[in-house]
Amino acid sequence: MPTNAGHQQPPGRVTYDAELRRHNEALRQACGIQPRDHVLDIGCGTGQTTRQAAGTALAGSALGVDVSAAAIARARELTREEGPGNVAFECADAQVYRFARDRFDLAISRFGTMFFDDPAAAFANIRAALRPAGRLVMMVWQARERNEWDVTIRQSLQAVAGPAAVRQDGPDPFSLASPPAVTEILEAAGFTGVAFADVREPVYYGPDVAAALDWARGFTGTSQALSRLDPAAQAGAVQRLRDALAAHQSDDGIWLNSRAWLISARA
Ligand SMILES: C[S@@+](CC[C@H](N)C(=O)[O-])C[C@H]1O[C@@H](n2cnc3c(N)ncnc32)[C@H](O)[C@@H]1O
Repeated sequence: MPTNAGHQQPPGRVTYDAELRRHNEALRQACGIQPRDHVLDIGCGTGQTTRQAAGTALAGSALGVDVSAAAIARARELTREEGPGNVAFECADAQVYRFARDRFDLAISRFGTMFFDDPAAAFANIRAALRPAGRLVMMVWQARERNEWDVTIRQSLQAVAGPAAVRQDGPDPFSLASPPAVTEILEAAGFTGVAFADVREPVYYGPDVAAALDWARGFTGTSQALSRLDPAAQAGAVQRLRDALAAHQSDDGIWLNSRAWLISARA
């Protein structure tokens, strides 16, 4: 992800759950989980959305899957502390994991579906796990340039280091930003009624500049870019980023605008 998933954040640091608190509510409402639903959470991270789903589907269940062993360990730990009891986690690659067929009423994801090597195969696998009347509801980032958080970070780094320094290697967090491309992928996987809702909510980067800088430096793209610089350029880029984040300070912390798609489809 563009962002550090917040698998093991020390107390007082920003977490992914805190960053996305406004998005979480939009996703929760769109999911419309019913008490008897069986819910599959794709790329569940530390499982906040899985626990929330299970807490609503009290006569049903929720299963969270994530390819990161650290995330799943933390998800299990938090669930032991917080419950609920009808939730389980698997460390697995959602692209190929052999889910029980026709098992789930709903597959959900909060920014956990943009990193598939083979999206066509992944979404076909997810659809096969859904019941005939099942639904998919997932949140993904819109295009990079519509996301102030990404633009702010990239421009700060680029101003000091040049465009080459901000190229990102590896998985692309914006890979599902194009509605026509996503519709094609989902329809090829057997989904119908693909719909997109525009979500405009800010992301939270912490109470002050120090916390926001720490959080932004944890993003894969930021750390990759900084690691390509010599120490002087690195210090200049960090200062530029600090100044850019400081410009977003408000009474309730540092918030940057974002745009996401809330995508829904029928199995
Ligand atoms: C941006 S994080 C979101 C985590 C979580 N959904 C949340 O909102 O807290 C993306 C997650 O997707 C997971 N992921 C990436 N590729 C995956 C795959 N093929 N199968 C399962 N999980 C995957 C990552 O390990 C990461 O935890």
